[in-house]
Amino acid sequence: MSGFARGKLILAGEHAVVYGHPAIAMGVDRGTRVSLSHCEGPTHLPGGADPRLAAALRLALPPHGVRVDVHSDLPVGRGMGSSAALAVALLRARDGDVPPDALFDAALALETVFHGNASGLDVHIAIHGGAVRYRRGPPREAVALPAPGWSVVVIDTGDAGDTRRMVRDVAARRPSVDGLLADIGALALAVEDALHSPAQLGPLWTRHHALLRRLGVSTPRLDAATDAAHHAGALGAKLSGAGGGGVVIAVPEGPPDALVERLRAVGHDAFVARAAT
Ligand code: MEV
Repeated sequence: MSGFARGKLILAGEHAVVYGHPAIAMGVDRGTRVSLSHCEGPTHLPGGADPRLAAALRLALPPHGVRVDVHSDLPVGRGMGSSAALAVALLRARDGDVPPDALFDAALALETVFHGNASGLDVHIAIHGGAVRYRRGPPREAVALPAPGWSVVVIDTGDAGDTRRMVRDVAARRPSVDGLLADIGALALAVEDALHSPAQLGPLWTRHHALLRRLGVSTPRLDAATDAAHHAGALGAKLSGAGGGGVVIAVPEGPPDALVERLRAVGHDAFVARAAT
């Protein structure tokens, strides 16, 4: 039995979404496939999984008799939703075709064990893909948006971030960062309006990155990657995901492959991510 789920990129609103503000995200053409088969002895998870994630996944499996194989082209711990994709793919492999709401609740329970206080955005995208404006609620609101017709350029810093720690650090700085979180939420709505115009979106992403920096979730390498994107001709760039490591996303001015080439030429690990349902 096997199940697949997509990774995601947050286009605007990370962290603010944990506190009820809107966020914009999209599923990407990368994801995770989990296959379950019978084995003798204790249930076997592949080596290399984050120990906390492995502990969360074990909750969804019997202690004996299951072999779990994972194939993924999502970089782990980089803000691209690898843990939600793994949880959703595993539940799909275990349960087959379950109604999306039941799958959401089960996957969010696993994400919450792993991440602490998860908004559910990553799980929503892992299940549905596409582009979305998402509010945690209650009531939860997920409005499907037309996916951007242009492709995002992703720069992987190579550093893994710890979502649980980043979310906890932001929580510890409340209420003094509440104004900043509200500004990020407001910017998410502007990003939604600009989603189909790279020229308008670029400067919004650059402003968004500055807000996330003030929130304390950027790193020198994420800042360097956004600078590199600008020097290479991007229209704008921001970190994407919880921060503390992970990826930067950039709006290319022209063909995304040309921006990727320029970034690789100066030593960055860059690739193109396309919206996918
Ligand atoms: C993590 O991908 C995004 C955060 O907003 C946390 C969450 O939404 O659960 C930082």
